[in-house]
Amino acid sequence: MNTAIQARVDDYINKQSEVDLLRFITCGSVDDGKSTLIGRMLYEAQLIFQDQITALKSDSEKMGTQGDEIDFALLVDGLAAEREQGITIDVAYRFFNTERRKFIVADTPGHEQYTRNMVTGASTADVAVILIDATQGVLTQTRRHSFITSLLGIEHVVIAVNKMDLNDFNRPVFEQIVDEYLDFAENLNFQTITPIPLSALKGDNVIARSNNTSWYAGPTLLGYLETVEVSHSQVDYPFRFPVQWVNRPNADFRGYSGTVVAGMIEKDQQVRILPSGEIAKVEDIVLYKSSLDQAVTDQAVTISLDRDVDVSRGDVLVAADEPCEVSDQFEVSVVWMDQEQGFVGRSYWFLMGPTRVNATITDIKFRYNINTFEKLSTHAMSMNEIGELTLSLDKAIPFESYVSCKGLGAFVLVDRYSSATVGAGMINFSLRRAQNVHRQALVVDKEARVKLNNYPGKCLWFTGLSGSGKSTIANAVEQVLHKRGIRTYILDGDNVRQGLNKDLGFTDADRVENIRRIAEVAHLMVDAGLVVLTAFISPFRSERDMARALFDDDEFIEIYVDVPLETAEQRDPKGLYKKARRGDLPNFTGIDSDYEAPEKAELDIHTAEMTVDQCIKIILDYLEMPDL
Ligand code: ADX
Repeated sequence: MNTAIQARVDDYINKQSEVDLLRFITCGSVDDGKSTLIGRMLYEAQLIFQDQITALKSDSEKMGTQGDEIDFALLVDGLAAEREQGITIDVAYRFFNTERRKFIVADTPGHEQYTRNMVTGASTADVAVILIDATQGVLTQTRRHSFITSLLGIEHVVIAVNKMDLNDFNRPVFEQIVDEYLDFAENLNFQTITPIPLSALKGDNVIARSNNTSWYAGPTLLGYLETVEVSHSQVDYPFRFPVQWVNRPNADFRGYSGTVVAGMIEKDQQVRILPSGEIAKVEDIVLYKSSLDQAVTDQAVTISLDRDVDVSRGDVLVAADEPCEVSDQFEVSVVWMDQEQGFVGRSYWFLMGPTRVNATITDIKFRYNINTFEKLSTHAMSMNEIGELTLSLDKAIPFESYVSCKGLGAFVLVDRYSSATVGAGMINFSLRRAQNVHRQALVVDKEARVKLNNYPGKCLWFTGLSGSGKSTIANAVEQVLHKRGIRTYILDGDNVRQGLNKDLGFTDADRVENIRRIAEVAHLMVDAGLVVLTAFISPFRSERDMARALFDDDEFIEIYVDVPLETAEQRDPKGLYKKARRGDLPNFTGIDSDYEAPEKAELDIHTAEMTVDQCIKIILDYLEMPDL
């Protein structure tokens, strides 16, 4: 880096240290006293106003757990629901400052099902305060939180061994817990680990040094937080600026608004726009109504360029001579956060800052055993599991590995139907195969095949319960089409499962893979000019939509073969319902495995009330091909 830039970086760091802000998270298990600890800190640092104390006293009498004393946890457990349940259920951000520093603390919940909140709080933190209840020692939850903390790149942790008053501030107990923790943490990437014995309830070593721990020479918790040095490594990184929105207040001005996630930029410097790769010069850097000479990491600004180039939301402006990579396939680490499992072949929204793109899990390489760090093979990601996956995106995006630049390497996966966040992830690297596999242009194309066949390829996707009549109707329709000289092919569940998919069973994960393969095969067949009829239960909306997305408009016709479960069960053509009811056939659709009915299929066919001929007619009419 040249000296002029270095000087400006130093200047920035100095300015930052004037306001010096420390972000930290607290994490721990239920009941180990996190909220009490933060409440105690705020109280003792005299950061609580008198009216809050009055309210707190009356709340403590009503629902506190500390008899006549103030229950500090009530101060921090701000949400009504938490108070009623006596647990913390969301990330609560608190702002406070002492003479030496400003603090933002994210108080994250201890219940296992709330790991996602912990991830949210941890992604921007400089320090993690991990609470351990001295009467409980190191728990699985402690390990999980530490693992996630390390994964998220937090370099400094405090091991706050709380409730030391309950064992009379017994030194060997403290030391044993610390030894056990350090043993475990050897495998993690922390730069410093600072153990502190304390009692949040009584105030020992929170702010004031305790008389009860004469054997302890280290800092108090607040003392540590006020003085710990944290690096702002993104400042001297090459410039990175994801465009949040294109700002066009009038015809004369066009600017790109967003936050600098790394590095700095000055007027007249060149930037490269990714993914297009075009280059332009920075004309102006605007902040409200004023204009700046430069913008640095974490600053939200609007940048205008010297020429008209195509820039849209989600594009990234980068230092022209130090661009980042662009890819659509990644190896990532993910913390799974949803009750619904994650499967290979399933698609989700991939959100990274302003970028939103469809992503499919292409492989689950392994998940970790949190206690031993063993890598376990798995077909599905379950709630709270941490694993390494590969993802394939529908579109190439500019990115960085999470360790180099959090702003371009951290993402979340979101369910496309419920909008729930199902995973938080970090990009490790892009897969080289993404760069080495290119689509080959071929001369004879779909259009040419349609001409030869005199009829366009289509996919008639039958879905419904086992015994609903999918195969029967598909067979009947195929006969009619065949007679009319149309080239057809039936892909039928029972048949394909004896060949291409004979390695697959009926777990959710296997069904997802079953349908993924069928969708790909059907897509090839339609490309070859055939009318493909698929007869699979295809119980999940997500995979049917994934199949649909492979095809052009009008090529994919979803046909819901709708019968009540009782009817299918009465028909029971293969005796499978009987077996399932007896408990001899697990995961049977409709019995102990879900069927998600289509909400807007092109056609609904009720085979309980219609003859086969009537069903055929509905389909042929839809194809605008009246029966002969
Ligand atoms: S899918 O759910 O993955 O789409 P698919 O249509 O391929 O299922 O296979 C369903 C056929 O497999 C059923 O018609 C039935 O004959 C047979 N089968 C065997 N075990 C099961 C099961 N547990 N659930 C559903 N179908 C089963």
